[in-house]
Amino acid sequence: MKRIGVLTSGGDSPGMNAGIRAVVRAGTYHGIEVMGIHRGYQGLLDGDITLLGPRDVSGIINRGGTILRTARCKPFYEVEGRATAAAQMTAHYLDGLVVIGGDGSYHGALALHEEHGIPCIGMPGTIDNDIGGTDYTIGFDTAMNTAMKAIDNLRDTAASHDRIFFVEVMGRECGQLAMIAGLAGGAEDILIPESLTEISDVIAVLRNGRAAGKSSMIIVVAEGDDAGDAFAVSKAIAAESEFKDTRVTVLGHLQRGGSPTAFDRVLASRMGVHAVDALLQGESGKMVGIQSQDIVLCPLASAWEKKSSFDEDMLRAARILGT
Ligand code: F6P
Repeated sequence: MKRIGVLTSGGDSPGMNAGIRAVVRAGTYHGIEVMGIHRGYQGLLDGDITLLGPRDVSGIINRGGTILRTARCKPFYEVEGRATAAAQMTAHYLDGLVVIGGDGSYHGALALHEEHGIPCIGMPGTIDNDIGGTDYTIGFDTAMNTAMKAIDNLRDTAASHDRIFFVEVMGRECGQLAMIAGLAGGAEDILIPESLTEISDVIAVLRNGRAAGKSSMIIVVAEGDDAGDAFAVSKAIAAESEFKDTRVTVLGHLQRGGSPTAFDRVLASRMGVHAVDALLQGESGKMVGIQSQDIVLCPLASAWEKKSSFDEDMLRAARILGT
């Protein structure tokens, strides 16, 4: 193996730059060239590919976003698109590929591996922490702390005005971010897709809180909750109860940016070194993950397995402590 490519794909996450840096420097350490592919798979199709040396990745370990930029590439879902990508790999003498991104990005990597025999290794990068086979994804820890700090700020104003806030946290199909940020932020209730939401239960939480002397309260709502988004939940509560004058804050994409935490930098760095090792050892169709502090290699397909870490106990703790 003489030359490999690295790309970031799907939603960006803090720590992706640390991951790119790790792949570039580990590759250089082992005497192989690392090419940066810009705008995810789209850049592979367009041949938007440049050599990255160790100095090109200086000063990025602390930066959010991705210097390679990212995209969601529709043509890559088609066989023809992937054939073009494979041809570009050959044209640029790329012997392997490291894909940093979410589970959607792994479909492309697995197809390249299966259809064209291209050695591909995935590194999990998403703030959602919704990828199987790994306890944590790159970016989750930073996003969790960002959401927690936002909840802290909202608590100040909520307390000053005796208000109820509904805070929407990202996570289309996964409530991990909402659950941890809610527990860490001391939310009165946390609504997540993994657990059925009854509006009457949320009203009961608010009434009990008032009866217990709470003048302000915070309800965290995961973007993908079954009862709807934070606006829908606040409207439903207003329609069915005395809680009519509440406020809604959607944290949105601010959770995706910012300087990565030490945890995310270290995770991405370890995973990047491991991804290069894996390619050099002839591995393909695999992703690196972290399980109980150990960096492991597992099949790319395990990314789609439902995360087994939904923690009923954590939700229970949050609800007990929110009283
Ligand atoms: O990166 C994952 C995620 O942040 C989800 O939580 C969210 O639903 C989605 O991306 C939004 O993505 P975009 O607005 O970039 O399409």
